[in-house]
Amino acid sequence: MIGTRFSAAAETYDRHARPQLALAQSVLSMLPEMYPEQILELGSGTGQLTRLLNERFPEVLIDAVDVAEKMIEHSRARFAKFPHINWIVGDAQTWWGGDRYPLIVSSSALHWVGDLKATCENIFECLEPGGTFALGMMLRGTLKELHELRGDIAPEKTPEVTLPTYEETKACLQAAGFNLERRKHSEEEIIYDDAKAFLKAIHEQGVTGGKVSAGNAPLNRSEISQLVADYQENFASDGGVAATYETATFLLTK
Ligand SMILES: C[S@@+](CC[C@H](N)C(=O)[O-])C[C@H]1O[C@@H](n2cnc3c(N)ncnc32)[C@H](O)[C@@H]1O
Repeated sequence: MIGTRFSAAAETYDRHARPQLALAQSVLSMLPEMYPEQILELGSGTGQLTRLLNERFPEVLIDAVDVAEKMIEHSRARFAKFPHINWIVGDAQTWWGGDRYPLIVSSSALHWVGDLKATCENIFECLEPGGTFALGMMLRGTLKELHELRGDIAPEKTPEVTLPTYEETKACLQAAGFNLERRKHSEEEIIYDDAKAFLKAIHEQGVTGGKVSAGNAPLNRSEISQLVADYQENFASDGGVAATYETATFLLTK
């Protein structure tokens, strides 16, 4: 389901992924001076973070894993001139490549997993002793304005599952055995041209239709029109409309 949704967004994701790019940059900026022999990236998507990793660690072998087949196909074609990047279809919750890595990274991806605790345990297993895990997560407060309005317009269609909180994420990481070296938790408002542009952007990030902003059933046409009008009226800001993104970055060691 998640894989299918992100596969559908593979062609349009990057044009609308400003908050995800900022998070990927923040994940990289947390890394200490290092030159790992091999890197595992989980939830690589269209390769926004992979590109930054490849610039920072040229020629280093990167195993880029994503659950969405089309994302992997798209990135494999796009990064064809970098044969040291392996594009692999796999689920971060259970994926095991047979090797332990000195560096594992993930950005804007693990908040989607069904079982965050099991995922953290799996990543701990994939990391070599003394290794580093750098993680960027979208958290519960992300798109809170949209959730609030959806709840008013179609209360019976509110999502069953929500994104993890900062405390839940930290607890899962610590329970898996990671040492927490550094962390940054922030809430940021992004301004979109108008409510329509905002909804289009999050749809093209692959965010709608699932955990973050969809519900048990999609909104019908009149509910969507009401959502656009109400969003425009209630969350107008700086000549556009505002949307909140709550994020955290963690630097962890084993
Ligand atoms: C919002 S994109 C982020 C991509 C990229 N890391 C970035 O920073 O732009 C999220 C990606 O996570 C992937 N994903 C979601 N759940 C996953 C899972 N359980 N295992 C691996 N990838 C997953 C999706 O398919 C999607 O490509």
